[in-house]
Amino acid sequence: MDHSVIEKNIGLMAVLIALVISVAGLVQIVPLLFLSETTEPMEGVEPYAPLEFAGRDIYVREGCYNCHSQMIRPFREETERYGHYSLAGEFVYDRPFQWGSKRTGPDLARVGGRYTDLWHEIHMLNPRDVVPESNMPAYPWLAERTLDGNSVASRMRAQQRWLGVPYTDEQIENAADEVDGKTEMEAIIAYLQSLGTAIQRNR
Ligand code: HEC
Repeated sequence: MDHSVIEKNIGLMAVLIALVISVAGLVQIVPLLFLSETTEPMEGVEPYAPLEFAGRDIYVREGCYNCHSQMIRPFREETERYGHYSLAGEFVYDRPFQWGSKRTGPDLARVGGRYTDLWHEIHMLNPRDVVPESNMPAYPWLAERTLDGNSVASRMRAQQRWLGVPYTDEQIENAADEVDGKTEMEAIIAYLQSLGTAIQRNR
């Protein structure tokens, strides 16, 4: 077929463009679904503990990903600043993942263990108390609001049942008691402290 036929028929051209993009997309994506490097957890990566898991939901609710990425790229200037670049096997229990695409603030992929819990608490209550030039918003309500244990447990159950996260029934049964009444501040700090700790910084 002469390609001028396609160029003069926008409907046909649209269909063919969609076809080319779909096939090209599948060729890139499908192999990843079968590559163990991207589907299996890296050594040392565990599903989030109940309190960390609750903190992760708060991270999503508050939209922290609008200013923070969790994806260290394999470039010298990134690995010098943040530590070892991110590996696919670190994210297998992140449903949905929090890679982000905007860095108003620093990448958080390896922030775990970088500061004390107290530093995080002061920082979340008012970032300018520890970083005077910060333009990060304050999140004082996290210290006042408490977690509902049953809600956390049922969300863990959903991750186990529908997304294949290997929580045991026992872990889920104990989760409600473990987190019930803890503050959202404790949860988000537990989450932040867990980030990137499966591989040590600057390895
Ligand atoms: C409007 C953009 C913005 C939002 C939204 C935001 N941050 Fe930040 N964040 C920053 C900036 C800028 C910095 C660097 C200055 C500072 O440390 O306060 C920062 C720093 C941080 C740090 C210290 C990182 C380091 O390596 O020093 C942590 C931890 C952090 N933010 C957590 C959070 C969490 C959790 C949330 C959501 C509850 C959040 N941020 C929401 C902009 C933001």
